[in-house]
Amino acid sequence: MDSFPIINLENLNGDERKATMEKIKDACENWGFFELVNHGIPHDLMDTVERLTKEHYRKCMEQRFKELVSSKGLEAVQTEVKDMDWESTFHLRHLPESNISEIPDLSDEYRKSMKEFALKLETLAEELLDLLCENLGLEKGYLKKALYGSKGPTFGTKVANYPPCPKPDLVKGLRAHTDAGGIILLFQDDKVSGLQLLKDGNWVDVPPMHHSIVINLGDQLEVITNGKYKSVEHRVVAQTDGTRMSIASFYNPGSDAVIYPAPTLIEENNEIYPKFVFEDYMNLYARLKFQAKEPRFEAFKESNVNLGPIATV
Ligand code: OGA
Ligand code: NI
Repeated sequence: MDSFPIINLENLNGDERKATMEKIKDACENWGFFELVNHGIPHDLMDTVERLTKEHYRKCMEQRFKELVSSKGLEAVQTEVKDMDWESTFHLRHLPESNISEIPDLSDEYRKSMKEFALKLETLAEELLDLLCENLGLEKGYLKKALYGSKGPTFGTKVANYPPCPKPDLVKGLRAHTDAGGIILLFQDDKVSGLQLLKDGNWVDVPPMHHSIVINLGDQLEVITNGKYKSVEHRVVAQTDGTRMSIASFYNPGSDAVIYPAPTLIEENNEIYPKFVFEDYMNLYARLKFQAKEPRFEAFKESNVNLGPIATV
């Protein structure tokens, strides 16, 4: 497949099931990304979430962002900015317990819609994990269990807006990285583009599409699949016109989940990915997010364990 994979989830219910499963498999093996349509999340809920997110940005975030930009002199930079992203964000946590009621400046309607949206996304994430299990020859529920830990998965949402940027060649909306966690579900602006993934050395656009959900795989799925599926590098290029909305929800392991390659996916003498506690991985990721993932995996390999991740990087 050489164009960005679009998966119609409704096709899983009929004659096209096999071809659709194949398409998902190809997307996981060769792109690390795909875009879902007919995913079952009500479009009117998505419309409400979009409207409230944009209102909230204008009311509570936009001015703050402008002040930050001007205090750092970012609109007039002459050389590449390597330690900042041209984005305005806030975070919500849903699991293991919600913190939505503690986040300031959200209307009751916005809190309620985000809760409802997160519940739908959680269900969708778990459905997708089972489709991946099927394609990988793992028993149903394997991936959910692998991410579970003692308190269940960590599930959170990063609400971002990427305002228009006068110097998109010098400041990225979001610098290139892979995602640390399990599976990521993104509700992105249907008009303003910017998200790109790295495929065969080229940056490829993730096309904006009304009411779609973009899926990508994080580092933990790369480890559990022992590299059969890869977490793929991506970035956001800031645009000179229009503000891009992006609501990214991260279905991640519980902090104490022990992550390791599924035994059935290890070919003889081919165990290449390490075993570690997710929280330790995140501590490393917090410092090394915008660097290559391989040294993060290396840091947890058996021979390096005694040195500890900090000494080895
Ligand atoms: C991220 C991310 C993409 C986007 O937050 O990890 O890649 O489009 N976001 O906002
Ligand atoms: Ni990301």
